[in-house]
Amino acid sequence: MPILNSIIDAHQEITAWRRDFHAHPELLYDVHRTAEKVAEQLESFGVDEVVTGIGRTGVVGVIRGRGTGPTIGLRADMDALPITEKSSASYASQNAGLMHACGHDGHTAMLLGAARYLAENRGLDSDVVVIFQPAEEGGAGGLAMVEDGLFERFGIDAVYGLHNLPGLPEGSFATCSGAIMASADEFEIEISAKGGHAAWPHNTVDPILVAGQVITALQSIVARNVDPLASAVVSVTQMHSGSAYNVIPSEATLRGTVRTLAPRTRDVVEERMNEIVTHIAAGFGATAKLNFRRGYPVTVNDPNQVAFACDVAASIVGEEKVERFMTPMMGGEDFAFMLERCPGSYLFIGNGDTSGLHTDEYDFNDSIIPIGVSYLVELARSATSHRR
Ligand code: NI
Repeated sequence: MPILNSIIDAHQEITAWRRDFHAHPELLYDVHRTAEKVAEQLESFGVDEVVTGIGRTGVVGVIRGRGTGPTIGLRADMDALPITEKSSASYASQNAGLMHACGHDGHTAMLLGAARYLAENRGLDSDVVVIFQPAEEGGAGGLAMVEDGLFERFGIDAVYGLHNLPGLPEGSFATCSGAIMASADEFEIEISAKGGHAAWPHNTVDPILVAGQVITALQSIVARNVDPLASAVVSVTQMHSGSAYNVIPSEATLRGTVRTLAPRTRDVVEERMNEIVTHIAAGFGATAKLNFRRGYPVTVNDPNQVAFACDVAASIVGEEKVERFMTPMMGGEDFAFMLERCPGSYLFIGNGDTSGLHTDEYDFNDSIIPIGVSYLVELARSATSHRR
């Protein structure tokens, strides 16, 4: 399908929506203004059912088809980040310290554009559900919507996510089957020892020395416990202890993140961390406790949905601009929770040569809007007209 004329005609208008969202970034579940605008727009397009408050501030719209084929879900994220924007654009953030640094403003605007096209042109064989989720950036808004009955309530048979990617050429797509994004967990290690005068270390148990040994030993998990053909990251990113030059403290705290591309690897890393932390501390006469908090699971694409979505993307931009076998990334993605409950796929669309995601100079590339909207429209039309 070439890019439709009516979508090209709507480019300026959708860009204006995108820039309005950009100027008014909101965090996590506090996407009240954004969600309200989205719901108002959906109503104004004549979307058949608009439901707010799913997953606290999530919004869902249903565009009814004739009711024979599978129901598909298209998902966008609405939240921004706690970053101070560096931009001289007229639509730069008006909310101090907040910024749309991941392009969720663009994702929301493109999905609205697709919803309008589908509501105006109709002809769908079955229902299309447009899903606008809050709190992608660490708040598990996707899980909140799932737990609010998203899939059962709207009878969704397959779900699709789209995310922009700086560095990927404008108008290109990239994805892969199976794991595409990593599980993202946090850990905290609390070491309790015995403080004292730094000149009499033999009367103390030094938690800083224990922390040093723990940090070093944690590196052996990826090197020696994880299958070399699997992937994992164990990063200690914080170390807190002590307050004086001449005092050995009694406690130390380490914090960090773990990323893996398979549930089994995730289990191995957590088990080994527990053993290392407990036993190294004991070996030095200290005690230590690991608090491992599981965050987003691995984002796993269904091979059939990936092939289908790539075929749709190729029909718009050409096969040479669709990378079907990209290398997975170690970042986390809340869409993982939706893919755990429902088959689907997550694709990247090229944002071109722009600043990276989560940087203060990033901006969504408005020139990709017609391609993104066309992809979503065609995905909806093809998916509902075939039994998959
Ligand atoms: Ni994002």
